[in-house]
Amino acid sequence: MGFLQSDSVTAAQNYCVRCISCGEVHAALAVDFRCTKCGDLLEVEFPNWSGESAPDPAKLKALWRERRTSNQPLDASGVWRFRDVLPELDDWSSAITLREGNTPVYDLPRCARSAGVDRLRAKHQGMNPTGSFKDTGMTVAISFARQNKFHWVACASTGNTSASMAAYAARGGMRSLVVIPDGKIAWGKLSQSLDYGALTCQLRTDFDGCVRVLDEIIRRYPIYLLNSVNPFRLEGQKTAAIELLEQLDWQVPDHVVVPGGNLGNNSALGKAFLEMKRLGVVQSVPKISVIQAEGANPLYRTVHEKQGKELVTVEADTLATAIRIGNPASWMKSLKVLQATNGCVEQVTEAEIAVAKAEIGADGVGCEPASAVTLAGLKKLVKSGFVQRGDSVVLVLTGHVLKDPEYTIKFHRGDLSVPRMEDETFHAMTAQQRKAPIVLDANADAVLRALEAEEKRDG
Ligand code: F0G
Repeated sequence: MGFLQSDSVTAAQNYCVRCISCGEVHAALAVDFRCTKCGDLLEVEFPNWSGESAPDPAKLKALWRERRTSNQPLDASGVWRFRDVLPELDDWSSAITLREGNTPVYDLPRCARSAGVDRLRAKHQGMNPTGSFKDTGMTVAISFARQNKFHWVACASTGNTSASMAAYAARGGMRSLVVIPDGKIAWGKLSQSLDYGALTCQLRTDFDGCVRVLDEIIRRYPIYLLNSVNPFRLEGQKTAAIELLEQLDWQVPDHVVVPGGNLGNNSALGKAFLEMKRLGVVQSVPKISVIQAEGANPLYRTVHEKQGKELVTVEADTLATAIRIGNPASWMKSLKVLQATNGCVEQVTEAEIAVAKAEIGADGVGCEPASAVTLAGLKKLVKSGFVQRGDSVVLVLTGHVLKDPEYTIKFHRGDLSVPRMEDETFHAMTAQQRKAPIVLDANADAVLRALEAEEKRDG
């Protein structure tokens, strides 16, 4: 097993890296970022956070707010602004940043009505520079790649990680290798990786197959792995939770609802909420719930069939291609977060996803299909009583609506065919949300007739 070129953890730094299962602390990190003793995942820890040396929560809040008025690249980044709770780079000025983070929190009034809650908000991580939450983790992990003097970086991806990696690698003067499943990547994402100059390999397999191939590549070639098994990715992704708390004036919501694919993101957000509580920045944590597509539901099945004791892998299939994952790497981290925050895991059908996506669009916000599982899942959590009408709820929207325009166009035209459901049933269940474009002759009368018909329909 190879190790990263330089030992990335030294005594002088503010963090250490520990195995989540056996607790072993690692000074040198293996190329696959797994524990060399037991093979499980690693996580970044901050030993100085206990006793006298712990940072002062009031000072942190003041500092983070003050940096928002600064034009320095590191302060202008919604990730590095929180660098006091991130693993330290040898040289802060070497961070590769596209001013990621700083994403908006939107009210979703129509979606709130449809879900049965008084108020619903969304933290839109799709408003990051490459259109997904991946940028927040990428800026941190790729900065560590450069610190370790890597020329090449790589990831297996369902499309967003690869788009993000390709952009940041280009910014950092590095080369990137993208390994993606052939034919199962949304156009927006594939086009990004090409535009940012990545070596893009579409393998005849699914995401889980891509992970297996890349696992061999990193052992045979000096290339830095940027999948979410890389603990530095999750450190960056953590900051979305801190930023959210800041945007809510440090009022902790009752629920945060997150889509689940490879299960890194909910783990990262959970880590952040728990760390903020530990530091005294807030006094409680939200319940974090993970929503999966019914056709890609390994965590759901792991919890409901095996009580979380062993992972149930599945052959994944869903049109929410971002989360088309059957063997998620971070399932154990995710389970720990569910337990620590008293959250739950739910699954939703393709029709429920499509309806929810159109509803988020109708609130003027929009997102990609994988993000819409959050609203679809919330409806179920309200029905089951897990979420009460008066609870404060935040959905984490993970990807921009323009990532997957093909899905949206086919849906509204009534051309979408989903797995595990007859086309007619799907179309009947989603008819209310569809708004197909109308092709007309080029005259005002025809357009005005369409307008009047629409007025009548609206009542
Ligand atoms: N939403 C979107 C838009 C995603 O792209 C992903 C994951 C998820 C949700 C799930 O997050 O994996 O941390 O549980 N996309 C990865 C990728 C797998 O390669 O882009 P997760």
